[in-house]
Amino acid sequence: MCGIVGYAGARPAIPVLLGALKDLEYRGYDSAGIAVLDPTGAGLRITKRQGKIVNLETALDGTAGQATTGIGHTRWATHGKPSDQNAHPHVSCNGEAVVIHNGIVENYAELRAELVAAGHTFRSETDTETIAHLLEDRLKDGDGLLEALRRVAPRLEGSQALVAMAESEPGAMVAARLGNAGGVVIGYGNQEMILASDLAAVLPFTQEVAFLADQQLVRLDRSGASFITVDGTPVELPRKRIPIDPVSALKGEYQHFMLKEVMEQPEALSDTIWSLGTLDPAELYLDDLGDARDQLATVERVMLIGMGTSLHAAMLGQRYIEALAGVPAETDNASEFRYRDPVIGPGTLVISVSQSGETVDVLEAMNVARAKGALQITICNTEGAQTTRVADGTVYTRAGLERGVASTKCFTASVAALYVLALGMGLARGKLSREELQHHMNDLARLPEAVARTLRDAPVCEREAQRFKTAGHILFLGRGLAFPAAMEGALKMKEISYIHAEGYAAGEMKHGPIALIDADFPTIAIATRHALRAKIVSNIEQVQARGGTVLAIVTEGDGQIAALADSAITIPEVPELLEPIVASIPLQLLSYYAAVQRGCDVDQPRNLAKTVTVE
Ligand code: F6R
Repeated sequence: MCGIVGYAGARPAIPVLLGALKDLEYRGYDSAGIAVLDPTGAGLRITKRQGKIVNLETALDGTAGQATTGIGHTRWATHGKPSDQNAHPHVSCNGEAVVIHNGIVENYAELRAELVAAGHTFRSETDTETIAHLLEDRLKDGDGLLEALRRVAPRLEGSQALVAMAESEPGAMVAARLGNAGGVVIGYGNQEMILASDLAAVLPFTQEVAFLADQQLVRLDRSGASFITVDGTPVELPRKRIPIDPVSALKGEYQHFMLKEVMEQPEALSDTIWSLGTLDPAELYLDDLGDARDQLATVERVMLIGMGTSLHAAMLGQRYIEALAGVPAETDNASEFRYRDPVIGPGTLVISVSQSGETVDVLEAMNVARAKGALQITICNTEGAQTTRVADGTVYTRAGLERGVASTKCFTASVAALYVLALGMGLARGKLSREELQHHMNDLARLPEAVARTLRDAPVCEREAQRFKTAGHILFLGRGLAFPAAMEGALKMKEISYIHAEGYAAGEMKHGPIALIDADFPTIAIATRHALRAKIVSNIEQVQARGGTVLAIVTEGDGQIAALADSAITIPEVPELLEPIVASIPLQLLSYYAAVQRGCDVDQPRNLAKTVTVE
């Protein structure tokens, strides 16, 4: 969620950086800061302020300054509350190295202890500051800035995008992309270079850009950029001319919005999670719940509603609320709920899930719930949307705008938001202790990286999709928490590839669907290491006994199922409750690649609209 910008050129850096940060304001932030490096030897000048960019501007007092190189940042707090001190940039003890950062240094506590023991003094509570101190040590050992960052990079666990400057290298900066915590776009101007976390801040300068890939680093100054990989190999990055056409511009390096949005999930998840709470100490904000928050402790039952993909997210929310808050919960399709005179009242909490916040059936169902006096919370990705105006409280997802008609990043972000809401309910009701909350926040902190690792296997999904692209029908099976994920996998497949697909609870298979199985009717089974794994093994065997083939989604290291199935895609091991989020990634990619291979219009599938505002 953090915004990153950097500039090296001939113009005064401060106004350039402030302008670029404003172009990133839509990402949301709680503080902003810049660091500029004066070529006349006056050294680093760092200014940072909690709150809006206007606070930073006021602190800078309208001065443009001499410096023509600098970096800027907008922060969403993860480690340490929003404050001037915790705002980026962060500087090392001797003031030599300065860093801005997007992502989480998962092993920051160990690194911090090691650095403190070695004599470093920390000025903030952030994980980012560890990077500045690590860089200082490397620079002291004689490394240049790029080599220093290259050697620090393997020490940082988790996904990061980061930019650094050093006083000893005026006019230059280095950046690294490690995993999928956000992009680094490099823009080529005329004797000036700019970099930013996304195109919005680069395009006002230049249409000539390069995108840093995972595990790549760049060093740039006003005359250009050079690239290496983390293992030190120099690389050439293709330059791309972004057309003025704003739609193509927004697609960036991707052929389709859907693929871009699938790939953005680590960032969408981390932005959503850290806008709702912090890791250290484990706290939940849930600020937009307003007064509804006080009633989380007393509601008697929960009813979750949504449509399509958001209904599948709601089904997972139901499981989370039961498991984490111990409150009876049910899910219903909003278009059914609104007409069935549901038995609800003031003791019921109705949670509506709608990324757009404008879906007519959801809004009508909410009107029914309001008329019956139920408390309402909505999960929404669109600030100020209609659902947020009807509900008593909102939990916003921070997935950014989703343009592909098939919902991907909004789905996983909604599931993560429901998880945090369930934690909030569990805490309010005394079902969860503070220690348990910490444990769950640690699990959530590792989730974006697990998703990023899964995304690296996109080529495997592309290959596997070849086997399905000619199928007339596909069965998706899952049990427990994998059932809603199977439903969602089938919905994605049918809506963008037009292959008929059904998602079933695997236990239901023998009660009818198994009659369909033959050599031309493949099955995709979510067979991860959840409590019901043994049962899904027998479902796989039953499909195969009828001549059907099975692609299994399995947990890394599960050789047994991988060997049993006809083919397998592995996902990293994560706590069971979070497994459906990770398991959904290969299912999204399979349907994307099957659709591309069949020549379908991925972003605008026939007959579908992104927001369904009519019945
Ligand atoms: C499927 C999809 C739809 C939406 C549904 C609800 O990929 O996007 O099924 O999930 O139309 O939309 P929202 O979440 O905006 O209420």
